[in-house]
Amino acid sequence: MQKNKSHSSILPPQTIGIIGGGQLGRMMAIAARYMGYRIIVLDPTPNCPTAQIADEQITAPYDDMNAIRELVEKADVVTYEFENVDLEAARYIEAKGKLPQGAYALEVTQNREAEKTLMKENGIPVPPFSIVRDGKECRTALEHTSFPAVIKTCRGGYDGKGQLKLESESDIEAAVRFAEQGGTFIIEEWIDFDKEISVVFTRSQDGEIAFFPLAENVHRDHILAETYAPANVPETVKEKALAAAKVLAEKINVVGTFAIEMFVKGDDIYINEMAPRPHNSGHYTIESCNVSQFEQHIRAICLLPLKKIEQHKPALMINVLGEDVGRAQKALQRLPEASVHLYGKVEAKPKRKMGHITFIADNFEELAALKKAYEEDLD
Ligand SMILES: Nc1ncnc2c1ncn2[C@@H]1O[C@H](COP(=O)(O)OP(=O)(O)O)[C@@H](O)[C@H]1O
Ligand SMILES: [Mg+2]
Repeated sequence: MQKNKSHSSILPPQTIGIIGGGQLGRMMAIAARYMGYRIIVLDPTPNCPTAQIADEQITAPYDDMNAIRELVEKADVVTYEFENVDLEAARYIEAKGKLPQGAYALEVTQNREAEKTLMKENGIPVPPFSIVRDGKECRTALEHTSFPAVIKTCRGGYDGKGQLKLESESDIEAAVRFAEQGGTFIIEEWIDFDKEISVVFTRSQDGEIAFFPLAENVHRDHILAETYAPANVPETVKEKALAAAKVLAEKINVVGTFAIEMFVKGDDIYINEMAPRPHNSGHYTIESCNVSQFEQHIRAICLLPLKKIEQHKPALMINVLGEDVGRAQKALQRLPEASVHLYGKVEAKPKRKMGHITFIADNFEELAALKKAYEEDLD
């Protein structure tokens, strides 16, 4: 039994406000709906994926302060599904006592400079990096950088957007032009990693942390393609990953579900980036664990005790992009082992995340067979 916190818990049928109406908001809303909460979502697109599950939508831009005020008035607690929430809006909601995750986690994670600087200052291993603000600084920084490297915008990038890989010195001019578009940029050395993994965890308002099994991630075209869980990594890597996550969680005073992406090379890890929200590499938890990353997130922000996490069976999650929707529909008809999630997005653009599929099985050989059945045998 946990301490009795019921005096300040948010309880059904109270209302949870969600900023952002994509698939992450939708899956949070579905988890919350099971428990009996009401949902109100703020998103500029009518009938967005979360609105299809919510009781109410405020249809307005994310930084519209009138809309934010309306959300705060109507919701008992507010959360967000992405890190690019307007900071002024976040601080306003926090001051009203309705943003348990706080504005600071957003401030750090929406800016690669703040993110990497915080890690470095706390002894967390990161790829060697420099911060540059224009073409001249970029040229100087590249004199001291080993290639390959990558230059990324410090703000607003996702799914590989806003970054340019630099294979060799011959890419310096392209990098300089990239850094001349205005804003702040980070140049990182390219890590020739063995694997990419992520730590997805939830931290309660009391500071208790529940870790989900480590996830092993395969990206294609800079977009997450597959996640295997648990990750197949040496025990020392696992220990280093969890220790780094714990330090960062405490420094940032994380509340709710949070994800940290990292590279693994031998027994070493290098932290890549963080997300102050449920993460694509944690979707497998819906079928594979006794509690999903979404339910655990709702529990944390509503001041309910976290569940102790158990994974029933190994899992493989495969993203369904615009070009894969037909295959996912076929899987529904012909491959009952596939748990199919489609997000209700109206337009299926290529490379757009439209859904995901999860397989669970007793071992990785069986998961490989299911992957083959999905990718090759449905045609
Ligand atoms: N320094 C690096 N070394 C090796 N691979 C990298 C590096 N930076 C990015 N990548 C690759 O590009 C992907 C996307 O980069 P990331 O910084 O996570 O941006 P995004 O915000 O687009 O997810 C990573 O998952 C990784 O595969
Ligand atoms: Mg990333």
